Amino acid sequence: MAAAGSDGGSGTVTAALAAHSTSPASPRSSGLSSERTRIAVLGGGAWGTSLALHAARMGHEVLLWALEPEVKRAVNEEHENTTYLKGFKLPESLRASNDIKEVAAFGEVILMVIPTPFVERTVAQVVDALRDSSILVSCTKGILNDTLETPNEILKRVLPARLHPRLAYLSGPSFAAEVAKEIPTAVTVAADNDDVAKRVQEMLSTPRFRCYRTHDVAGVELGGALKNVLAIACGISDGLGFGSNGRAALITRGLDEITRLAVAAGASPLTLAGLSGIGDIVLTCTGDLSRNRTVGIRLGKGEKLEDITATMGGAVAEGVLTSRSAHHLALEKGIDCPVISGIYRVIHEGADPVDVVTQNMSRPLKPEVDRRVAQAAHLAEVPPAPARGDGATAVPGCVVDC
Ligand SMILES: NC(=O)c1ccc[n+]([C@@H]2O[C@H](COP(=O)([O-])OP(=O)(O)OC[C@H]3O[C@@H](n4cnc5c(N)ncnc54)[C@H](O)[C@@H]3O)[C@@H](O)[C@H]2O)c1
Repeated sequence: MAAAGSDGGSGTVTAALAAHSTSPASPRSSGLSSERTRIAVLGGGAWGTSLALHAARMGHEVLLWALEPEVKRAVNEEHENTTYLKGFKLPESLRASNDIKEVAAFGEVILMVIPTPFVERTVAQVVDALRDSSILVSCTKGILNDTLETPNEILKRVLPARLHPRLAYLSGPSFAAEVAKEIPTAVTVAADNDDVAKRVQEMLSTPRFRCYRTHDVAGVELGGALKNVLAIACGISDGLGFGSNGRAALITRGLDEITRLAVAAGASPLTLAGLSGIGDIVLTCTGDLSRNRTVGIRLGKGEKLEDITATMGGAVAEGVLTSRSAHHLALEKGIDCPVISGIYRVIHEGADPVDVVTQNMSRPLKPEVDRRVAQAAHLAEVPPAPARGDGATAVPGCVVDC
């Protein structure tokens, strides 16, 4: 995939980081915790392979499930995922298999990195192979078209109740290629169970990959899914030549509607002000590695969606499908989402993007801040102060933990 393998960071930054490489001379030398874990990664696309590489570099034992026999062969024989993450050497210790049950049974922790439409049938295949002690981390960003379910809702429907407290969700601004390059990255891990979130946080954090944690699963999932629709909008704006003003307006008003929609689904507005909200929006709406933004740019230049997807070589731009789900979710919740609905009309009803922009800009004038979001921000639960040794920064004289 060109997007995954293309140069996401400046050569100077990459060279500077190489000079200070954290790649472990011995296992576990780069991680912030010393525990070695058996990690199964389900999904050998760009993100699954990059996370598997990250975990293997940390010294964890990693087994990758790939759907495609050629991905398994290339990972095991050429030590490179030449289909989805071209240009990155994988350690020989990182093995791939096409046997999904074998891979799931191997993992104490299972990272699920499957595009949304395939989550249900993939997880259904491994239910019997899971242990009660397994931790399952969804790294998928999307909303199903027909049921409007997020991965959390799909997983809770498919998995037995005893495994629900073992679920976590990893999201945030993280291009696969940049994580593979060890460019400093920050993500967030959401889980109902704080011990599970902490375990995943400690298991995956390094000085180049910092994990935060939260209880707000809905906020993290909806932020991660909906920003892909906004990235298409920003791409269309760029493709039409609308410049920096247009992009800044879209990012800001898009964040507003994503926040209103997420709050209506039970999320905290503060989550959308974090890594899985504005963080991921900035990444995908401005970064050249974003497939969704690239789809938008090409749509803005007048190409047809079918022609664009035909050239993507199997890579998935989740925002195309999510635009349909997001539009219907907004209708279901009664939330006015002009950007999301505009993208739905462009992609699925063939509307002219310039007409959509003109109509959106001509709507009745209104206050900037929505009353329900302001209320929710006021009521948002303040997390308890961390105990020393639990993330608090002991800076003499500093009373605020940053
Ligand atoms: N690429 C990134 O930088 C990135 C970063 C963060 C999150 N994500 C999210 O991770 C998820 C996976 O994306 P990706 O970029 O790794 O994928 P990709 O587009 O690189 O590859 C497509 C993946 O879909 C799999 N697939 C295709 N048909 C399938 C089927 N019938 N059953 C099961 N799997 C099938 C392929 O095997 C492959 O793993 C998506 O939800 C994406 O939004 C991606």
